[in-house]
Amino acid sequence: MIDPILWDGETLQLIDQRKLPLIKEYVTCRGLDEVCEAIRNMTVRGAPAIGVTAAFGFYLGVKEGLNPEFVAEKLISTRPTAVNLKWAVDRMKGALKNGENLEEKAKEIFFQDISINIKIGEYGAKLIESGFNILTHCNAGALATAGYGTAVGVIRVAHEQKKDIHVYVDETRPYLQGARLTAFELNELGVKNTLICDNMAGYLMSKGMIDFIVVGADRIAKNGDVANKIGTYSLAVLANYHGIPLYIAAPFSTFDPTTETGEMIRIEERDAKEIREIVGVKIVEDTQKCFNPAFDVTPAVLVTGIITELGIFKPCELFESYYKFFGGKDEC
Ligand code: MRU
Repeated sequence: MIDPILWDGETLQLIDQRKLPLIKEYVTCRGLDEVCEAIRNMTVRGAPAIGVTAAFGFYLGVKEGLNPEFVAEKLISTRPTAVNLKWAVDRMKGALKNGENLEEKAKEIFFQDISINIKIGEYGAKLIESGFNILTHCNAGALATAGYGTAVGVIRVAHEQKKDIHVYVDETRPYLQGARLTAFELNELGVKNTLICDNMAGYLMSKGMIDFIVVGADRIAKNGDVANKIGTYSLAVLANYHGIPLYIAAPFSTFDPTTETGEMIRIEERDAKEIREIVGVKIVEDTQKCFNPAFDVTPAVLVTGIITELGIFKPCELFESYYKFFGGKDEC
């Protein structure tokens, strides 16, 4: 598997996710500006991956002699929906306040993300039976994290346990994270998979072709509402109608108890160009009006369970578990 994020002690190397799977090329970030640009332009994407990247960005910015508050604000403003970004920056700010070594702290966040993903995978795989056809959306794999993956991590452990599984991958218009990244990752892992267009998911569910749905998350509100890639809400409504379980695989760093409900989550709106073009090829006139929200919110009631590093919870149990395990501290 390709390493999504590499740190050599001086620079951050990010696999360029805009070019995968056809071109495997790393982008080098030497300072805060380059890290912010890489997050903004989607060189790196996926909630945990941008959190880890921001941790190294914070270290680089402070090393450049910049004001830590300025560095934090600049990083947090790159993308508004995924809360892991703020979570990682807050941890770095805490480390600075406590006089800790910032480079070591960023590395700790990186390695912790991988071990957390493995735990999520182990809990989630218990839900998967041999013979399952699984549906996933967007990319919640190694590329969206420091490595291993959340939703794909669950699939990965089930596959390693020799369960005979098959995955339907939503292509995830407009940015095609499913087609370009998830299918690529599953192929690398040797997991049987089939790519479908997003609007085919309902048909497959109606034909009894889907047993289980697992996706990632960008932010989970206090009441258990889940913001994830646009299209997740439609899947959840369809899954509910067809009686198919829909699980969210996410670390506790994606849980945001300061956001009461999903309504309060800021949804990033991206450039209309992403809809007017498909991988750089224009499909409609530049004048065509488009609307491009990058995420949607799935109400807690439509989520069967949330697979975390500490076990599987109902969305409404998350807040209580968060306080039980972390005592309200942000060191989750
Ligand atoms: O816009 P992206 O590609 O950053 O969106 C990513 C997603 O929505 C993922 O599903 C989510 O971050 C979970 S990643 C483990």
